[in-house]
Amino acid sequence: MLVLGIETSCDETSAGVVSDRHLLSNVIFSQDEIHRKFGGVVPELAGRRHIEVITEVVNSALEKAGVRLNEIEAVAVTQGPGLVVCLLVGLGVAKAIAFSRKIPLVGVNHLEGHLFAIFLENKEVEFPLLGLIASGGHTILCLVEDWGRYQVLGQTLDDAAGEALDKAGKLLGLDYPGGKEIDRISRNANSKAVSFPIAFTKQSQFDYSFSGLKTALLHYVKNHPELKDNPSALADLSASYQEAVVQGLLGRAEKAVERFKIERIVLSGGVASNFRLREAFSEFVQKKRIKLLVPSARLCTDNAGMIALVGEEKLKRGIQDDFRLDARAVLGLENWR
Ligand code: KG4
Ligand code: ZN
Repeated sequence: MLVLGIETSCDETSAGVVSDRHLLSNVIFSQDEIHRKFGGVVPELAGRRHIEVITEVVNSALEKAGVRLNEIEAVAVTQGPGLVVCLLVGLGVAKAIAFSRKIPLVGVNHLEGHLFAIFLENKEVEFPLLGLIASGGHTILCLVEDWGRYQVLGQTLDDAAGEALDKAGKLLGLDYPGGKEIDRISRNANSKAVSFPIAFTKQSQFDYSFSGLKTALLHYVKNHPELKDNPSALADLSASYQEAVVQGLLGRAEKAVERFKIERIVLSGGVASNFRLREAFSEFVQKKRIKLLVPSARLCTDNAGMIALVGEEKLKRGIQDDFRLDARAVLGLENWR
């Protein structure tokens, strides 16, 4: 089935074409340039930019896939979670295409897009999986029993992992987005230079908390005003902070592996493109002799290919939506009908 996917949940305008889990194109238009000067995503500006570029992005995805719009057999679009002013742009375009072409429309949960992005690069992945979604907006640890069957084990009680990195980047005066920049400058730095609290909560076994870590960084920076003029100390501090985020994420996953006798872990979301996180998880799975599945970096961050892929799976199971499909700012992992 030729499925066109559309993703506009935050600051990336993306369209992609998938056929039988095979990625034919995946065009991603990043808005980093627009939001850089504000140090974060400005929803109204993001929504406006999606409107300006979406037609070009969709046309480009069709062209790269070598298909015409009248060959597309279904449209999959991100329904949420995300910024409503942004989601509405993708939903409007998806509905217009589905209506004019009289083809099925299916809404996709962005989180499921991240979780299943690995299927774009591995055709056969066995269930059950332990899934860790770590992005700018979410940190969720879950058991994935099958397509559309989840058991959420834990999530963040405050900041998401990516948010914790982005806020730290801003505090340290680094380039935007902070997560990517912290990854870059930490590569050859000393991650043991500063000790930070690991992001665990006492209340629950599998939940995360990153706000204490952020406060610890704030205090450290206040007490070391000389840092700003010392790139090497700044890199060591970034690496140490990043390590605390990584150990926080890994610690919960380690516990879940023990408890549920896990044999396969899926790591996904923008933060999963982080070099050190990938390395730490790789070391862990080697030790445990279990399998780690991580999409390539481009498929970890927001993209429409993953949305088209999940849309195709839903359609195969007879799940589709009508034109009342609406944007959902808040949307957790929900089991399919
Ligand atoms: O999945 P994503 O593209 O968007 C959301 O759904 O939130 O994730 C974006 C997040 C941002 O917080 C960004 O800083 C972070 O992913 N990120 C990274 C890296 N690349 C993107 N964090 C750490 N290391 C990276 N290399
Ligand atoms: Zn995302």
